Amino acid sequence: MRLAVYPGSFDPITRGHIDVIERAGAVFDRLVVAVLVNTRKSAIMSVAERAEIIRTAVDEELDRAAAAAVEVTIFEGLTVDLARQRGATSIVRGLRALSDFENELAIAHLNRKLAPEIDTVFFMTRLEHAYLSSGLVREIAAFGGDISAMVPDAVARRLAAHGAR
Ligand code: PNS
Repeated sequence: MRLAVYPGSFDPITRGHIDVIERAGAVFDRLVVAVLVNTRKSAIMSVAERAEIIRTAVDEELDRAAAAAVEVTIFEGLTVDLARQRGATSIVRGLRALSDFENELAIAHLNRKLAPEIDTVFFMTRLEHAYLSSGLVREIAAFGGDISAMVPDAVARRLAAHGAR
């Protein structure tokens, strides 16, 4: 069984992330989507809340079989430790533009140094999602802008319920 871990902040999950989850699901037998702490970012939602929204979004956006192959979890620590714990062969990440590349390259190389048996597999984001980011979604939502085309419905509902904090 080919299992991959897809780590991220997912604060909140966007349609770009959902696209990566769907496409990674076609390549791997099982995908563990893991909400991890990015020490370089401050979050607006707790990891538990983010994980709950991801679960709902995956169940609503993917077909039943694809959603069943996705596990959503939270993890405190290194991605490679989670990957080893789960027996994952790969780490999945999305790449939008050249601007992502340098950071992703560094993370992939360091993760490979820490765990040479685990490779990072990148999915190129669809063009329509290429300029989408959780940070910009948070900013648009904070000023009352319409984010419905950028995020799964589960996120739009939650942010609306929170008064788009
Ligand atoms: O969605 P993001 O913020 O781009 O995700 C970054 C994330 C969470 C994948 C990265 O910060 C991470 O891997 N954090 C866990 C700690 C870790 O393994 N750091 C080592 C990377 S070299």
